[in-house]
Amino acid sequence: MRLEIPTNAERFGANLFYQVQKIYELDGGYGVDSEFDNPFHVIQQISYERLHEIEKDMAIVIPVKDERLRLLEGVLCGIPHACLPIVLSNSKSEPIDRFRMEQNMVDTFCRHAKKKYLIAHQRSPELARIFKDGGYLHLLDDDGLVRHGKAEGMLAGIVLAKLAGKKYVGFIDSDNYFPGAVFEYVRIFSAGLSQGKSPYSMVRIQWHSKPKIVDAELFFTKWGRVSRITNQYLNQFLSHFTGYETELLRTGNAGEHALSMPLALALDYSTGFSVETYQFVSLMEKFGGVLPSPFPEIMKRGVEVFQIESRNPHLHEVAKGDEHIKEMVEYSLSVLWHSGICPATLKKDISSELRRLKIVRKNGEPIKLRQYPVLSTLHFDAAVRKIDWAQYGNYKPV
Ligand code: GDD
Repeated sequence: MRLEIPTNAERFGANLFYQVQKIYELDGGYGVDSEFDNPFHVIQQISYERLHEIEKDMAIVIPVKDERLRLLEGVLCGIPHACLPIVLSNSKSEPIDRFRMEQNMVDTFCRHAKKKYLIAHQRSPELARIFKDGGYLHLLDDDGLVRHGKAEGMLAGIVLAKLAGKKYVGFIDSDNYFPGAVFEYVRIFSAGLSQGKSPYSMVRIQWHSKPKIVDAELFFTKWGRVSRITNQYLNQFLSHFTGYETELLRTGNAGEHALSMPLALALDYSTGFSVETYQFVSLMEKFGGVLPSPFPEIMKRGVEVFQIESRNPHLHEVAKGDEHIKEMVEYSLSVLWHSGICPATLKKDISSELRRLKIVRKNGEPIKLRQYPVLSTLHFDAAVRKIDWAQYGNYKPV
């Protein structure tokens, strides 16, 4: 891949948030191009070997809930062979057992492709057992099963990736129409993570565009309704502490993102669709230097967040209507509002935005969402001892 070198960044304590990077070539060519020997280059080449090194250590978690099997199959097809796909499903098992259908399809696909994979149902007792054995009960509900929700599926995916011995974990939604876009996202993950100088790094994808039909014509929108709002307030949050107005953060709702495992285990998480925005909140709270950090090692080594713009348009399952959009705005803004370091002026602005959108009433407060503490408190050794890997697919860590 040939990719812009990020020259601008906002620093917030130990966090380094890089500007959005532009991709010049998805395939950067074989070997190392000596043209890049000059230290004043603004573009970098990331070799096949380097991308492969990351990908063989990376799991891609695919959260799925009642999506079309063909879409899920397309997503599998786009994932580079060296990566381990982990399908984390919360699909119905009644009246039709959709999960069984997913299992069959994934198994057949991977048999043909000779590909390793893991698949789990979010509500299965076996999955819940990992959290019980590991002493991390926060994710379990009154029935003793992993709670519903996309974030909850992602957390379970991170834990499976760690138990599978992976060093990186990425997330790709299962309702993507273009396998080529999925392939690009994973390549962006590996290119982004390969730039990290610290062991604590993250890559977030800014979509190039989202095609829509407007007046019978194709129109390529740049910003989704939710991200436009989330990014505005996220930047205000950051600006308050740096003292400089900024528009640098563009990926507040990036469903497609990847983390190094040490960082994935050191963040707090928030439920459902607030998960992506809350990752920024957690970074700012934990490593921003405003509150004492529970991880002095990370404060010393620093955290790097890369934002990279994809080239493929993003086409996913048809939008789920205004209520879904409103919920996503509410969730994203509420995690900013409830942060212990959210400045009073920003709280006021967020409250008026939520009132304007008729999400909260006058004098009402944004919803307080469930949060999950760092996954590093899970006892992985205890959890791994009783795992029967055969239940999860054809992968067994060595
Ligand atoms: N395991 C699991 N459990 N998966 C779920 C659940 C769940 O409870 N709910 C949804 N999913 C899966 C869906 O099947 C899909 O693959 C993915 O999670 C995203 O869910 P959607 O309902 O399609 O979300 P969206 O398209 O509105 O929003 C996506 O993009 C946003 C950025 O615009 C999500 O990725 C958001 O998190 C993201 O902020």
